[in-house]
Amino acid sequence: MAEKMNEGRETILVIDFGGQYNQLIARRVRECGVYAEVHPYTFPVEEIRKIGPKGLIFTGGPNSVYGESALEYDPELLKLGIPTLGICYGAQLMAYGLGGDVRTAPTSEYGHADVKVTDHAGLFAEVPDETVAWMSHTDYIAKAPEGFRVTAHTEVCPVAAMECPEKGMYATQFHPEVMHSVHGTEILRSFVLDICGCAGDWKMDSFVEKTIDEIREKVGDGKALCALSGGVDSSVAAVMMAKAIGKQLTCVFVDHGLLRKNESEEVEAVFGPDGPYELNFIRVDARERFYSKLAGVTEPERKRKIIGEEFIRVFEEEAKKIGAVDFLVQGTIYPDVIESGLGDSATIKSHHNVGGLPDFVDFKEIIEPLRMLFKDEVRQSGRELGIPEYLVSRQPFPGPGLAIRIIGEVTPEKIKMVQDADYIFREEVDIYSKKQAEEREAGRFEGPTLKESLGQYFAAATNMQSVGVMGDFRTYDYAIALRAVMTSDFMTADAAKIPWELLEHITTRIVNEVDHVNRVLYDCTSKPPATIEME
Ligand code: XMP
Repeated sequence: MAEKMNEGRETILVIDFGGQYNQLIARRVRECGVYAEVHPYTFPVEEIRKIGPKGLIFTGGPNSVYGESALEYDPELLKLGIPTLGICYGAQLMAYGLGGDVRTAPTSEYGHADVKVTDHAGLFAEVPDETVAWMSHTDYIAKAPEGFRVTAHTEVCPVAAMECPEKGMYATQFHPEVMHSVHGTEILRSFVLDICGCAGDWKMDSFVEKTIDEIREKVGDGKALCALSGGVDSSVAAVMMAKAIGKQLTCVFVDHGLLRKNESEEVEAVFGPDGPYELNFIRVDARERFYSKLAGVTEPERKRKIIGEEFIRVFEEEAKKIGAVDFLVQGTIYPDVIESGLGDSATIKSHHNVGGLPDFVDFKEIIEPLRMLFKDEVRQSGRELGIPEYLVSRQPFPGPGLAIRIIGEVTPEKIKMVQDADYIFREEVDIYSKKQAEEREAGRFEGPTLKESLGQYFAAATNMQSVGVMGDFRTYDYAIALRAVMTSDFMTADAAKIPWELLEHITTRIVNEVDHVNRVLYDCTSKPPATIEME
């Protein structure tokens, strides 16, 4: 099904040599309107032939082409006769494998580099004579193989790019996929559209239609079960399934009582009996169960474990009530697949998007309709499917929910406190950002709105009580921490510079409107050294 998306579709295969930007390359290619998949360098050459890609991209990687760390790749990779772009290590591999000279530089070249383009016939058709690109290497191509033309160089790098159109071989020492490479998009576009001859007509709507047809065919008159968390991935997966098989689908939504304010009702409004989709929807009110299991627990990892286990138990009980189901639906997305181990289907199957699903629920097969999509593509599919924007554009929310945004013991009172404060924070960011969007529309403001620039933003309970004064009374109440970060990968993050007057306004509202809060703190710490969540 959706994992065979390359069938009958123009495809670029990204052959991964262990580079940190493998996903990014595939995303950039898809942005050019061409479907791309990532496969490890061990992916059999016969499989590549079977897929019949329009082009190959060899990624960068940490290894050297010679010496002990050299990778054992199939030399046939260089003889497939398919247009190939080698990037960084991929470029060196091409140079070395075809008889060029690769050497180790005394010092690494890392960061921005001024690139002089000397040939605009192929990759650089849309690039000026001078550009800036991102370099990250120690080895370098000292001499291009016979038949190759050197098309760009830098002060320290004699072969910053080379090509041999007769062999369909193209290479850049720098990383065109990285945003810092000013003309990176133009280079990739020239490769996939002009050199590989792709039409560039890959679109999400065709993916959505095709997947719905495939699901219908696969499920036949069987039954499917979907664990719905209200997050973007499981919501999009559920709607796609619902469009395909309607009442043959049952969605189980476990309300563990650790969701954001009104979230449970919002999920039910969309997926429940009054919503637009005709599916079977079960909302399990498991709040008390979770609260009692969490009572007295303060250690973050213990909280996570309890929530994960209890979630499985509740889901399992519901699945048993429904009886034999043929298919279990999961909202696994492409980064999960890549991170779970490429090409190893056993590992891929065991990836549990919802924090661990029962292994012994009575189902025959797993359906993962989004397993080839990146997050922004999942959101785009959601829009194609008509899912409300507030659900589609949601920021990520952790599986253990507010439990890891309450330092120390989780109690219903603290949950309410965090929910209310968080609601105010999000509401005010919305109002502020809408105004910015209007200003932008009117040409008085440029760039992303506050909301568009934030990766994640929320309120957390610090477990700190302190003295305050309200009216004529002394208070001894809790401090709420506001956290807002800018991040593209969630591995590192910077604290957002929220405008002071907005913070002041939010603070006033929280202290006035939320019970048991007399102080609001703003977390200015980046990740590292802090993490995004408090626990
Ligand atoms: P940290 O706090 O590690 O968070 O900087 C990075 C990203 O991961 C999310 N996160 C979790 N998601 N279960 C999840 O499903 C968890 O236990 C969990 N812990 C953190 C966090 O929201 C952020 O997006």
